[in-house]
Amino acid sequence: MSEINWDALRAKANAAMKKAYVPYSKFPVGAAAITEDGRVVSGCNIENASYGLTLCAECSLVSDLFATGGGRLIAFTCVDAHGNVLMPCGRCRQLLFEHSAEVMLLETVSGIKTINQVIPDAFGPRDLEERK
Ligand code: THU
Repeated sequence: MSEINWDALRAKANAAMKKAYVPYSKFPVGAAAITEDGRVVSGCNIENASYGLTLCAECSLVSDLFATGGGRLIAFTCVDAHGNVLMPCGRCRQLLFEHSAEVMLLETVSGIKTINQVIPDAFGPRDLEERK
């Protein structure tokens, strides 16, 4: 896992951020991730006049994940308008958890962390199976 090129991945997130549609918040976000099979997927936030319908950058990223063949995420980063690392919101941590590999690393405001560190004891697909 230490072979992840975080600078290159952040550059992809920056490129995605530049495509954000943010007429309301003026707060563009870009996200990028590496899949288990080595693809890079990315996304930007897409807002809506009905504010609550805003798609976070992570939502777009998950769409890209499926549009390009699906699979699981092994590394993720997210940036703001200045290219600084941004923490995924709580909802998006749950979203990422759903599509995470057994070990998924995230570049965060407090260093490289695992998905389990950023959403401890997460509710997930396994709970649906085990608690029927
Ligand atoms: N935003 C994201 O795209 N991802 C996050 O994880 C945090 C928030 C977006 C949503 C909204 O368009 C803008 O940032 C301000 O909240």
